[in-house]
Amino acid sequence: MNLLGIAGSLRAGSFNASLIRAAGAAAPDGAGVTPFDRLGEIPPYNDDEKQKAIPDAVAALAEDIRAADGLLISTPEYNYGVSGVLKNAIDWISRVPDQPFKNKPIGVMGAAMGGLGTARAQYDLRRSFIFLEGLVMNRPEIFVGAAHTKFDENGALTDAATRDILTDYMKALTAWIERVG
Ligand SMILES: Cc1cc2nc3c(=O)[nH]c(=O)nc-3n(C[C@H](O)[C@H](O)[C@H](O)COP(=O)(O)O)c2cc1C
Repeated sequence: MNLLGIAGSLRAGSFNASLIRAAGAAAPDGAGVTPFDRLGEIPPYNDDEKQKAIPDAVAALAEDIRAADGLLISTPEYNYGVSGVLKNAIDWISRVPDQPFKNKPIGVMGAAMGGLGTARAQYDLRRSFIFLEGLVMNRPEIFVGAAHTKFDENGALTDAATRDILTDYMKALTAWIERVG
């Protein structure tokens, strides 16, 4: 089973990118998470007719989404919402013909320095997938708060409790993908 991982942060030491990697390591045998690493190449969406040619990075993301059995999105929380780069990518993909989020199994997670661990951003993100008809797993949920205390300087997840929760989460997500994918 091949999951496409999308971290909604461009930061070199992103906790969300680290969480995507940790999720790949915590996935059950036979499942893997491939990170999408071209989010920073996606230009700001402009709905003017002349601006609507699909950029390479958007075409690549659309293709990767279609090819994946499921998506795993890790969002930061920016000012109580989804990061701009992630929302921008979703807006682009939503305008691709035969939009690829439709009927795609999706896991949502997130890491933040704040105590609520992206809860507000995750519900913000889930709302977009209601309209786009993505099959977001309702539960379990995973909120990684105080992320700066849970990853080391190389981005490795060092918090054992979070690793256990992530392992259970990945078990549930792969079962969800098998069920609805
Ligand atoms: C513009 C901006 C807004 C932020 N707003 C929030 C917020 O609303 N809640 C929160 O918990 N952390 C907030 N933070 C802190 C982020 O949790 C922290 O920067 C985190 O490391 C972002 O994820 P990343 O490591 O994947 O880049 C904000 C950070 C930035 C840069």
